[in-house]
Amino acid sequence: MSKRILVTSALPYANGPIHLGHLAGAYLPADLYTRFHRLNGHDILHICGSDEHGVPITIAAEKEGVTPQQIVDRFHTANKAAFERFGISFDYYGRTSSAMHKKTSQEIFLELYNQGVFKQKVQQQLYDEEAAMFLPDRYVKGTCPHCGYEEAYGDQCEKCGTSLSPTDLINPVSAITGNIPVIKETEHWFIPLGDFQKRLEEWIYSKKEWKANVMGQCRSWLESGLGDRAVTRDLNWGVPVPIEGSEGKVLYVWFDAPIGYISATREWAELKGKPELWKSYWQDSDSSIIHFIGKDNIVFHCIMFPATLMQHGNYNLPENVPANEFLNLEGQKLSTSRGWAVWLEEYMDYFEADLLRYALGTILPENKDSDFSWKDFQLKVNGELADVLGNFVFRTLTFTQRFFDSKVPALSNPSSPDLQTLDEILKQKDKIEKAYRTFHFREAILESMNLARSGNRYFTETEPWKTRGENPEACGNTLHVCLQITAALSILFEPVMPSKMHTLREQLNLGKQFNWDSAGTSLLETGSTITPGEILFRKIEDEMIEIQIEKLSKSVIGQPQAEVDYPPLKSEINFDQFSALDIRSARIIAAEKVKKSQKLLKIQVDIGFEKRVILSGIADHFAPEDIVGKNVCVVANLAPRKMMGTESNGMILMAEESDGRLRFIETDAQPGSTVN
Ligand code: MF3
Ligand code: ZN
Repeated sequence: MSKRILVTSALPYANGPIHLGHLAGAYLPADLYTRFHRLNGHDILHICGSDEHGVPITIAAEKEGVTPQQIVDRFHTANKAAFERFGISFDYYGRTSSAMHKKTSQEIFLELYNQGVFKQKVQQQLYDEEAAMFLPDRYVKGTCPHCGYEEAYGDQCEKCGTSLSPTDLINPVSAITGNIPVIKETEHWFIPLGDFQKRLEEWIYSKKEWKANVMGQCRSWLESGLGDRAVTRDLNWGVPVPIEGSEGKVLYVWFDAPIGYISATREWAELKGKPELWKSYWQDSDSSIIHFIGKDNIVFHCIMFPATLMQHGNYNLPENVPANEFLNLEGQKLSTSRGWAVWLEEYMDYFEADLLRYALGTILPENKDSDFSWKDFQLKVNGELADVLGNFVFRTLTFTQRFFDSKVPALSNPSSPDLQTLDEILKQKDKIEKAYRTFHFREAILESMNLARSGNRYFTETEPWKTRGENPEACGNTLHVCLQITAALSILFEPVMPSKMHTLREQLNLGKQFNWDSAGTSLLETGSTITPGEILFRKIEDEMIEIQIEKLSKSVIGQPQAEVDYPPLKSEINFDQFSALDIRSARIIAAEKVKKSQKLLKIQVDIGFEKRVILSGIADHFAPEDIVGKNVCVVANLAPRKMMGTESNGMILMAEESDGRLRFIETDAQPGSTVN
């Protein structure tokens, strides 16, 4: 472990409020990681801020008839406050409209420019004559050439996920005036990513600890070959291109935004009165950089930004980019435009932050998309926080208060269950620690709760309400052990529920001097006094949950579901026919488009005992980089078949919905497991 850690969380666009999808993707895991390391006394810095450039901001401003600055001021302030209320403990929350950011990104751009890295190219671009402006990115809408979706944006089709250029769109229209754009020439600077291909491959493929979903996307980008990427745009909102004669041009938002991490660190250092201190996090070799992001940001953090920094030469590249997959809501994709989201600020009007930190922490989309539902939230709070952790703490503290005069009883002549249970604290601490260090936050939280479960079991089995009369020494031992577990829990759960654990430590009179390693077998001294107070976790009534579900259904702008036409059942087969199929679970480890084919994806799967290639006609439905890392079911004994010159060895099972949408049959089973 390096001496210093710099943690960054993706800078959220300042054009809308924070929702649960944001939290599950980057901010909660980043905060868990940071709090864990701080508790260990590590030198760790957590940097974030608002991403204030880019077309989504200017479009939001135009829609409301205000300036972009007004939009970003509003959401920067609101989002910063919401994160704070939720207990995300940034060391600094910057913004990309700051003077320091302008200076830093211009410096980096100029350095590369002076090194002669950028290619200058004349481009044909869409232009809106009435608005007198070029139409980059989301300023144009049109039909997606891949899936036919009619509302695709100039930079991406939200239906099929493909990234696009404005000129790819069929029937493009201006998002400002609705006019049909004309084509006009313009000059831009490009970073020739192809020249970085080798260096990037060497660097990325050396990262043995990167998550499979991240590595999969990188591999898919690298294998399809990197090309030139424009780093400038014709816009007047953004960081001006610092070259004479480039009026009306700004840096592309994805060029300047990640530099925001650097400029924010510089601002943090200045505030500390040590303006050079940022360098020890960004440039010293004993510092590790960890980028927490959602999966849609992988290419920018693993390929584009590292290429920029590599070329610059003075910067550290990230040690790890533990990107998460997406969080769905009540079984559907989150969509801010459709109003299908739970907003953090609104959540906080009803419930405490720590409850969501816990519930969301247990379902983080670490390896695949996961689902948040209000019913599940209620179950987690009532069945785990209240019934397991809360109950354990409550029975331990009240018993001590009533029968031991609120004093920690001595441990004398402990039985082997007493000792084993004490030992459990250290065992769990070890597991939790490992999980935190390796970005397995769900596991860290599960194992923390497992300690409370063991505590409950032990309390029940040793029956202190009986031993109190029959064997007071044994009764004291039970409470001693349970109090030590409670004290350990108040530290082990600190990263997840800082406010609740603070309250708990107050009840234990633990004071402020503690660190991760204080969680052990004798944190509380025999004879010390506890002060039980308020109940830590109250159950959530059904009505509270119904209010949330209703709110969600009211806010959604959707179409009523059409009646479904089910295809007729196929004719009957016998058991032998069924069991002739060899279905296995498989992990998708790489995917790419088959050249010259509209439909086919070439997919590499790991089926445990071997890896093989399967061709699947799903290119219209999925972008290759989005399916890498999925665990799916394949028919493994299907005869090989050649298509477009490539042999396909098996079939990936898919469910087709009535509207033609395809879904993978996903599984938690290890690759190679049989499916019957
Ligand atoms: N604003 C981007 C998003 O929400 C994330 C920017 S991350 C940064 O997807 F690295 F560019 F800052
Ligand atoms: Zn599409």
